[in-house]
Amino acid sequence: MSTNASILVIDDEEIMRDILETLLTREGYSVRLVSSAEAGLELARSLPFDAAIVDLMLPGMDGIAALEELKKVNEELPVLMITAFASVETAIAAMKRGAFDYITKPFKNDEVLIVVRNAVERNRLVRENRLLRRTVQEQYAKFANIIGRSPRMRQVFDLIIQAAPSRSTILIQGETGTGKELVARAIHAHSPRADRAFVTVNSGNLPPDLLESTLFGHVKGAFTGAVYPKKGLFDMADKGSIFFDEMGNIPLETQAKLLRAMQEREFMRLGGMETIKVDVRIIAATNFDLRRMTEEGRFREDLYYRLNVISIELPSLRERKSDIPLLVQHFLHKYGEENAKPDLELAPGALDLMMEYDWPGNVRELENVIERAVVLTTGPRIGTDLVPDHVRKTPQFQIPEVTVPPEGISFKEVITDFEKRLIESTLEAAGGVQKRAAELLHIKPTTLNEMIKRYDIRPRRRRTSADADAASSEPDNNGHGGQSAAPQPAGARRVSAGYGEE
Ligand SMILES: Nc1ncnc2c1ncn2[C@@H]1O[C@H](COP(=O)(O)OP(=O)(O)OP(=O)(O)O)[C@@H](O)[C@H]1O
Ligand SMILES: [Mg+2]
Repeated sequence: MSTNASILVIDDEEIMRDILETLLTREGYSVRLVSSAEAGLELARSLPFDAAIVDLMLPGMDGIAALEELKKVNEELPVLMITAFASVETAIAAMKRGAFDYITKPFKNDEVLIVVRNAVERNRLVRENRLLRRTVQEQYAKFANIIGRSPRMRQVFDLIIQAAPSRSTILIQGETGTGKELVARAIHAHSPRADRAFVTVNSGNLPPDLLESTLFGHVKGAFTGAVYPKKGLFDMADKGSIFFDEMGNIPLETQAKLLRAMQEREFMRLGGMETIKVDVRIIAATNFDLRRMTEEGRFREDLYYRLNVISIELPSLRERKSDIPLLVQHFLHKYGEENAKPDLELAPGALDLMMEYDWPGNVRELENVIERAVVLTTGPRIGTDLVPDHVRKTPQFQIPEVTVPPEGISFKEVITDFEKRLIESTLEAAGGVQKRAAELLHIKPTTLNEMIKRYDIRPRRRRTSADADAASSEPDNNGHGGQSAAPQPAGARRVSAGYGEE
């Protein structure tokens, strides 16, 4: 049963007001009765109601007008219309203008109660939803510097909100430039440690000794040159957070010591005997596949599991292209301010190019492209000319410049050579499918096939980044480049070994 919900009743007939009052009060509602629309509106402006019951036939301002005015006061207030059986049409008209439901006279008590209960319930849901939406928005607003509204980024925000308060280790994974450091800082900023240090470890290529002394400090005489004792980053991060910028770079030896520091929450200085207790929260980032590194024995499995208690995976920019316009906006504003060029905008053509591109360097690359464009632009509108060449994915066709040598040149040979090259590139663009290549060249597949035979055109393979990976990790010794086994990156064209004719 609904309790405490308050209902406004506007009816000019005293008997109706009495019936409704008795009925609703008995059900636990608190009821306010008025006999005119004007009086009802005045009440509605000063008190919160959960629902209103309005008679359609009122002297002065009629029921429909009252409905409209009530909606102006509170758009979400459910309004129930009371109508004589004869004027159901008017009631329906009222529904079209936003009434929640209507009750026909004479009514059954149960009927009224059901309609009122529904209205109150709906109102409660709407209110709860709004509250929820607001808190979610408020929470997301905390991440003002992390731009993204795509579902993948919302998941990231939710994870940050959930994970930040704890002391649990967090592993942030993502390609270069996806915002791992930004997220690490956000976790710290939303943790109870926010007012303590956030210490970054750039493990870089430090040799293990130096890295360990950086992390844990050393005692005097620990190694040649250790004239003074020194504290390490773990000391500095006490009660705060320590951020390993690239976990995959930490040498195996140091991994063992790190594991101990994480498990025991204590460590020893290089060359020292004393154990030192610390309370630090560890946040690690990597753009390596640490799991694979554990399989290859390059990363300790136990450390991997310790780190991976909570894992946040940052999407690449090409997986969340819907965020590109927002990011562009953000960086235009940021660099516009820095360069005293307010109100910059991107020409639609330029934005199209950015939406097309795959952004291997992710947000960092996009940021750099925008910064460059902002610095170089002379007007308020950034056109396609300021988009760097490599971002223009769709190459423009151009007939190459030719210079005729003094001794002259064979027209036929030049044309033949050009034809050959045109066919080769088109086949490449068509992923080796002749039918598609013929379409691109606006010729019949049979014609193309004849030319391929006539010119003896051999398949030319395009190296994809996956090939490059495969080549570096598994040197190819069978002469086939392992191409059938190499995983293709999303969006990469698969170039088959021979040109298929389908
Ligand atoms: N979601 C985002 N919103 C706004 N700026 C972002 C976002 N993600 C990344 N950036 C910006 O892109 C740049 C790179 O981000 P960050 O240094 O956090 O990337 P990273 O994942 O740590 O890269 P790397 O692996 O190369 O170290 C920074 O200037 C950062 O401010
Ligand atoms: Mg980084």
